[in-house]
Amino acid sequence: MGSADVAMDSDLAGDSPHLQLVPATPEEHLHALNLNSKAWKGPLEQGQYIEREHHLSQQKLTKDGALTCWILVDGRKPPNSRTILSSCETYRKPAYLAYKGKVEDIVCHGVGSVFARPEFRGRGYAGRMMAELSEILDTWQAENQPRKQGVFSVLFSDIGKKFYTRYGWKPFMSSHMTLPSINEDHFKTSVAMAKLPVARPMSADDIRQSMCNEIVEQKERNLLRAASQRSPTAKVAIAPDYDHMVWHWAREDFYVEKGIFPSKKPLVRGAGVDHQNVYCAWVRTIGDSPDNHTLYILRFSYDEPVTVPEEMGTIEALAAVIRRAQYEAHALNVKKVEFWNPTSMVEKAAKLLDPDVQIEHREETSICSLKWNGAKQGLGDEVEWFWNEKYSWC
Ligand SMILES: CC(C)(COP(=O)(O)OP(=O)(O)OC[C@H]1O[C@@H](n2cnc3c(N)ncnc32)[C@H](O)[C@@H]1OP(=O)(O)O)[C@@H](O)C(=O)NCCC(=O)NCCS
Repeated sequence: MGSADVAMDSDLAGDSPHLQLVPATPEEHLHALNLNSKAWKGPLEQGQYIEREHHLSQQKLTKDGALTCWILVDGRKPPNSRTILSSCETYRKPAYLAYKGKVEDIVCHGVGSVFARPEFRGRGYAGRMMAELSEILDTWQAENQPRKQGVFSVLFSDIGKKFYTRYGWKPFMSSHMTLPSINEDHFKTSVAMAKLPVARPMSADDIRQSMCNEIVEQKERNLLRAASQRSPTAKVAIAPDYDHMVWHWAREDFYVEKGIFPSKKPLVRGAGVDHQNVYCAWVRTIGDSPDNHTLYILRFSYDEPVTVPEEMGTIEALAAVIRRAQYEAHALNVKKVEFWNPTSMVEKAAKLLDPDVQIEHREETSICSLKWNGAKQGLGDEVEWFWNEKYSWC
C-alpha cells in the first residue's frame, strides 16, 4: 500500500462524521501490526513480532474469522490507501450465559491491542474507536447466533480504569497472588512436611483429557445454572476450553523457538491430583526483563466441596498443584508463579504454603474489564463474571 510507512497527516477531529471504524484488509492488518510493533514487540525483532502475531492467528481459537483487526480511518478513502489513525483487534470466543436457571452457549468478544498512532495521540481517535467498537460489537458476528445481539465483551486494560470505563467496559475484580519459584529440594521437603498429596505433572493432552472434556464442560454449565438459581444477577464466563490453553502455549512456544526462553518447549503444562479431581494448567509469559518472566496459572479446576473433610482435601490438593507449579517455574528459570482472582479455596491453599502471602489488587495493568449488553436484552443491569482467570486474557 502506498502509505505503508508514511505517517500521512490527518486533519479530522475525533468527532468527525467522516471517521469510520472498519475491518482492516490483510494489507492494512499487516500495516497496523508494523505500526503497533513498537508498543508490544518486547525483545522480539519487528519481523519476529509480525511472525508471532501470524502464528497466533493460526491457532484454533483465533483462526477462521474469529480474529478481526479494526482500523479507524477516513471513511471516504478507499481500502489500502487510507491512513490508519487507531487500531485494535477483537477475538470471538465461546462463552456461557446463565440467567434464572437457564444456561446458554453464546459467543463474546475479547478486545486487544488498542493502539493510536503516536503522532495523532490525544486527538480522541482511540476514544472514538472504542465508542464505535462498542456499538459494532452489539451485533458483530451474531447473525448465526440464537441471540442476534452480543451479550458481553471483555478487555484487559494496561492504562488503568478510567479510559475504558468511559466507553462501557467496567473494571471487574483484578487481583492476583504471587509465590516464588522453588528448587527441587525445597519442593520435596515442603510437600513431605505438609503431607500434601503428590501432584501429577500433566502434558497438554493430559490437560485436555482432565480439564477440558465434555464431562467437565457439563459440570461448568451445571455450576452456573445452580448459581443462577441462587441469585438473580446474570452470570457469564468465557468457556475455559482447550483452544484457550493451546493459544497461550503457542505464544510461549514461539518465544522458546526464538531462543528468548532459554529452554526446550516444556512437556509439563500443568498438574493434577486425580483422586481429588483438582487440576491446574499454566503458561510461561515474558516479562520486561528475565526477572519478570512469570509462570501464570491459566485455570484451576476443582469440584466445590460439600463437607469439611472434602474442603480440606481440596485445599491440600490445590496446594499440591501450586507447589508443583513453583517447582516447574524454577526448572524453567522463571522466578514467580502468579494466579488471578483466587477463589477462597485457592487463597486458602496458597496460605497453606505461605501464611504471609497476600492478595494484591491491580490498579493500572491487566484490569479485567467487561462491557455488559444484557440490560437491553432483559437480563438485568448487573452481571457476575465467573472464572475470571488468566486463560481469558487476550
Ligand atoms: C492509550 C492510547 C490508545 C490512547 O490513544 P489516544 O488516541 O491518544 O486516546 P484519546 O485521545 O481518545 O484519549 C486520550 C485519553 O486517554 C488517556 N490515556 C492515554 N494514554 C494513557 C495511559 N497510558 N494511561 C492512562 N490514560 C491514558 C489520556 O489521559 C486521555 O484522557 P483524558 O481524555 O481524560 O484527557 C494510545 O496512547 C496508545 O496507543 N498507547 C500505546 C499502546 C497502549 O498502551 N494501548 C492501551 C493498551 S490497554
